[in-house]
Amino acid sequence: MRVSLSDAAILLKSGHVVAVPTETVYGLAACVTSPEAIAHIFSLKGRPADNPLIVHVSSVEQVQSYFDVLPSDFHRLAEAFWPGPLTLILKGASSIPEIARAGLPTVAFRVPHHPMTLALLDQVGPLVMPSANISGRPSATTPEHVEEDFGGRVPVLDGGACLSGVESTILYLEEDAWKIARLGALPQEAFVDVLGYIPQQVGMKQVPVCPGQKYRHYAPKARLELVKGVPSTYQGAVIGFKDRRYHAASRVYSLGSSSNANEAVHHLYALLRQLDAEGVEQLMVDIDIPDDGLWLTLKERLSKAAGK
Ligand code: TXA
Ligand code: MG
Repeated sequence: MRVSLSDAAILLKSGHVVAVPTETVYGLAACVTSPEAIAHIFSLKGRPADNPLIVHVSSVEQVQSYFDVLPSDFHRLAEAFWPGPLTLILKGASSIPEIARAGLPTVAFRVPHHPMTLALLDQVGPLVMPSANISGRPSATTPEHVEEDFGGRVPVLDGGACLSGVESTILYLEEDAWKIARLGALPQEAFVDVLGYIPQQVGMKQVPVCPGQKYRHYAPKARLELVKGVPSTYQGAVIGFKDRRYHAASRVYSLGSSSNANEAVHHLYALLRQLDAEGVEQLMVDIDIPDDGLWLTLKERLSKAAGK
C-alpha cells in the first residue's frame, strides 16, 4: 500500500511502521519514542536484536538536544554533509530507548537528504530507520523493492528511486581520530577538506564497530566470483560494464559505464535483486575497477554480496 505524506505522519504517530525514501536507500521507519513500533521493525526485518538502528532527524539542533557535549569536528562535519549520506556514531544520548541502541553506550545519527522525509521528520520528530529490506537481502532503492520484501505488510511513502542507491557512510571517533565504520555514499576522500585527513577504515576487530557488519549482507542467491579480468573464453553470466567486451555468449548484467562509479553503485542493488528474480545461479563479477572513491564502496558491497 502506498500512502501520502500526511497519512505516513498519522501512521507513525500512532505507533505504526512505514517505509520512507531517503537519498541513499529506503528506510523502515518508526518513532524513536515508540519501543513497540521499534520492536516491530526488528521482527519484520528478521534483524538480530544486537544490531542497533540509526536515529534520523531533520536538523543539527535536534542532534544537539540529546547531548551536553559533542566531539570537536562534529559541527564542521554536520555543516559540510547534512542533510546527506553521513551517519555519525556519538557517545551518549541515553534517552534513546535501549532497544534502538541495542544496549550500546553510543547512538548513530543522520539527517537524510530527501524533501519528503525531511518534511515527515519535521512533523513527527526523530525516526529510527534501518534499510527497508529483509535482513541479509540487498537494500531497497525503489518502492517496488520494499514491496518485494514486505508485500502489503508495510505502507510505503513513494519518493521514487533513491538518488544515490547505496547506504550512508558511517564515521566514529577513536582516540581523537574519525574512522570509517562503514563505507558508503560518501567516499573517504570527501572528508579531507573538513578533517584535514582521510579517515581510515577500521580493520577487522574482534567486536566490529558496527554490529551489523558481522552479518551476511547484500547477498543474492547466486554465487558471485569476483575477478580482476573476466577470461575471454568464459561464456557464463557476468556482472560488468557496458563499455567492456565479454564473450558474445555471456549474459551481461551491466552496472553502467566503467568510468562512472555513481552510476555503478546506483544500479547495484536493483541488479542483485534482478539476479534472484531470474534465478541466476552463478556469475563472474568484473572488479577491474579503481581502489578509490565510490569504487571502493562498490567493491566492498560486491565482496559482501559474494559472501566474503
Ligand atoms: O543510508 C543509510 O544509512 C540507511 C538509510 C535508511 O538511512 N540506513 C541504514 O541502516 O543503512 P541499517 O540499519 O541498514 O544499517 C545501519 C548500520 C548497521 O550496521 C548498524 O550496526 C550500525 O549502522 N549502527 C547503528 N547504530 C550504531 C551504533 N550506535 N554503533 C555502531 N554501529 C551502529
Ligand atoms: Mg541495512
